[in-house]
Amino acid sequence: MEIKLLSGALGAEIKGLDLKDTSNENFKKINDLLLEHKVIFFRDQILSAEQHKAIAEKFGPLETHAYVKGLEQHPEIVRIIKAEDEKNQWGENWHSDVSYNAKPTKAVILKSIKIPPVGGDTCFSNMELAWETLDEKIKEKIKDKKAIHSSLGAEFFIKNYKKMEGNNKKNYDEYANEHPIVRTHPETGKKILYVNWTYTKKIIGFEKEESDEILNRIFEHQARLDLTCRFNWTENAIAIWDNRSVIHYAIADFFPGRGLGYERIMDRIAIEGDHPQ
Ligand code: SIN
Repeated sequence: MEIKLLSGALGAEIKGLDLKDTSNENFKKINDLLLEHKVIFFRDQILSAEQHKAIAEKFGPLETHAYVKGLEQHPEIVRIIKAEDEKNQWGENWHSDVSYNAKPTKAVILKSIKIPPVGGDTCFSNMELAWETLDEKIKEKIKDKKAIHSSLGAEFFIKNYKKMEGNNKKNYDEYANEHPIVRTHPETGKKILYVNWTYTKKIIGFEKEESDEILNRIFEHQARLDLTCRFNWTENAIAIWDNRSVIHYAIADFFPGRGLGYERIMDRIAIEGDHPQ
């Protein structure tokens, strides 16, 4: 097995591991790599929908997306499609997937099907490192606080994608959950900064103005380039990320007028998480 680090902060590209091998031994290697690097990448892995689901199921029960319809035959697979003529791209801002859920996603396995010849990379940022490096005064203020995560941001995703279908849930504005701002990783015991630009709306216990000010400082900190890595996709590549300890950002730099306008297609499977503690 070969491990190539993508940056000093997080992320590793792995060679010599077959994701079709769902033995406990192979899964342990994959999970250990995931816990160590937080996001791991594999190229040239031709997986059928069944094989994609089989490796995902090793991590735990599969999740169906709160707002987006899955494939007819495989409701757990969300096909993320950005058409040639669309400007918006699913996930084009920093976020942790479905953090508005009471039990947000544990991990995601994303498979590339069609990739533009230029652009469309995905960035990841390490939230364990973000907590470690956060300003001590802010840490002191927020360490025992909770924040509200709302699906208000999800409406944008569904309304803007012609080729993706919502599942007719219409409760965007009222669907929200509270989570600790600093959560403890259930497997590693490490502290993680658990807020994100897309879904986190307010710190409980602060007036809106102060909450906005602190959150904006945190969002800026989370996006610091020295906390991130960036993956340049090829077709049949796989990314597995620990959605508890990273945030991510799909870069929309291949729309008409910028990068000429290409289609990008990905298959996404998410694994159910727990209540952040
Ligand atoms: C996502 O934000 O979940 C998708 C990331 C991507 O398409 O690169």
